[in-house]
Amino acid sequence: MCGIVGYVGHREAGSIVIEGLSRLEYRGYDSAGLAVHRGPGVFETVRSLGATAELTRQAKEEGFELGGRVAIGHTRWATHGAPSVRNAHPHISYNGRIALVHNGIIENHAELRREMEAEGASPSWWLSDTDTETLAHWIEHCRPRGGSLLDAVRLALGEVVGAYAVLILDVPTGELIAARRSSPLAIGIGNFEVFIASDAIPIVEHVQDIIYLDDGDIVQVEPRGANEVPNVRLFNLAEEGQVERQAVRVELKVEELGRGGHETFMMKEVCEQPVTVRDCLRGRLTPGDSPIALGGLEAAWPHLLRARRIHIVACGTSWHAGLIGKHLIETLTRIPCEVDYASEFRYRDPIVGPGDVVLAISQSGETADTRAALELALERGATPVGVVNVVGSSISRLAGCGIYTRSGVEIGVASTKAFTGQVTALVLLALGMAHSLGTLDRGAYEELKAELDTVPDKIAEVLENLGPVLAAADAHTSARDWLFLGRGVSFPVALEGALKLKEISYAHAEAYPAGEMKHGPIALVEPTCPTVFVLPGDVHYEKSLSNLQEVLARSGPVVAIVTRGNRELPEGVGHVIEVPTTHELLSPLLTVVPLQVLAHRVASNRDCNVDRPRNLAKSVTVE
Ligand code: F6R
Repeated sequence: MCGIVGYVGHREAGSIVIEGLSRLEYRGYDSAGLAVHRGPGVFETVRSLGATAELTRQAKEEGFELGGRVAIGHTRWATHGAPSVRNAHPHISYNGRIALVHNGIIENHAELRREMEAEGASPSWWLSDTDTETLAHWIEHCRPRGGSLLDAVRLALGEVVGAYAVLILDVPTGELIAARRSSPLAIGIGNFEVFIASDAIPIVEHVQDIIYLDDGDIVQVEPRGANEVPNVRLFNLAEEGQVERQAVRVELKVEELGRGGHETFMMKEVCEQPVTVRDCLRGRLTPGDSPIALGGLEAAWPHLLRARRIHIVACGTSWHAGLIGKHLIETLTRIPCEVDYASEFRYRDPIVGPGDVVLAISQSGETADTRAALELALERGATPVGVVNVVGSSISRLAGCGIYTRSGVEIGVASTKAFTGQVTALVLLALGMAHSLGTLDRGAYEELKAELDTVPDKIAEVLENLGPVLAAADAHTSARDWLFLGRGVSFPVALEGALKLKEISYAHAEAYPAGEMKHGPIALVEPTCPTVFVLPGDVHYEKSLSNLQEVLARSGPVVAIVTRGNRELPEGVGHVIEVPTTHELLSPLLTVVPLQVLAHRVASNRDCNVDRPRNLAKSVTVE
């Protein structure tokens, strides 16, 4: 949610910030804004509805100069106040002394406003509907007489309830202050210049050593002469004096940030899956009877093997991967495993404590609810483990140990390669535990490992044979309602297929375990409502086939995802999409791919913006 970029240095600050914002658009794209410091006491802002391209156009139209040594910018995902130029950041304090951009939610903004008004603040100070503007006024309200901005920020943030990553420009001096709590911020220090952003992506093309700020951290960046390194000092709200933070090297290639010739980021990421799944396996999937190598889990391994129960917490697509993880863990290790929506887990007083393992799954590693669920588990003495894609992210640091999915940067808002990365990591985890626990006989263990090794090539095969998927999508592009059904591990795949379709094409799609169909959803079946069956050749096949017959009997059009060579399908199935044969537990890694492509094609046919679906943003850092 919301992207933030700040720059202090010798280059054209406005251009660098706009370029950085364009890299962060996946975090929000309803409006954008920029403030450039021109010199002591002088700054200018430009704001626009829409994404960064609009901001650039607006700046040109207004003749807005991008030159300057200090700038801050923002790309917004609205929380308080509709998307509009008025609500776009930066927001300016009532006295014009600071300009501020913010990601997060100031939960007590109304209370802070009441307090300021009781002490004489005029309602005319407020020019927007945002909580962010209140924070800007609040910081200046807290500034002690003659005090520095740093003092004001410390005092003000001490009273703030909520989540924030903020960048504050001190208009008199051009100093920048950055601070975070529960929302990510990273800082990169280059040659005579400093970059601050919501994540490493806008920074890595300039510097590769990144400091991820901790909760409560405050950074002060003072610009100095053109050939001098800006002064950077780090503090923490909870500590006296300066603090130190280690920089980490982020290996990210700028090429990874482009569409690589594909029409959308999503399609690029779908097509990367043979490589990303292989990357997830590399060095971990060892040959023969040897154990799975999961170095990042060393500290948690004894706890995992002795776990009374494993709780998986996640949101959205990652939650679907978690449902598959439950099948894998319970089938292969016989350890009970529960899967919770992180947003439910954190508020339902869960029965969790020492002896339990809490496994948080997250692509971004920044999802507010997942992070809070993990914090709760830690407080209660459970062992935390992360399955995370973004290295150095909040959840990976909080967990302290886990498995990185190595899926690379995922920019398309609809998660695809991150999902297959998560499922692959969970297969490795369950297999590794089964080996250590002896719950899987040697033959079966080796067979499953050998089969896992073939999965990347099999995903490539699926991607080479997309004709039937595209035909199914084209035939049903105008359907308003869809049903997705599956049993066993194919039920979470059905859920994922329905989620992909609804989030990028805005068609209504529901997923159920196929066996549940008769208990209600069958009422939806009619000639205009396609039903997608995920029915690979597994133990559930016959049962799912009966459900499929029931849909056909009611004139419901059927799209069937089956294992290659499956010829038992009844006549009347409109579209048959085959995937290569694999082990039942690995089938989600193949069956989900046509569903990703189906959703993409329907959305493209409907002229939807696939990479930037309405109302969504990647990395949900507010609850
Ligand atoms: C759907 C999607 C979301 C995310 C969810 C969790 O395509 O991307 O449902 O899966 O917001 O995000 P992470 O995995 O970053 O915690």
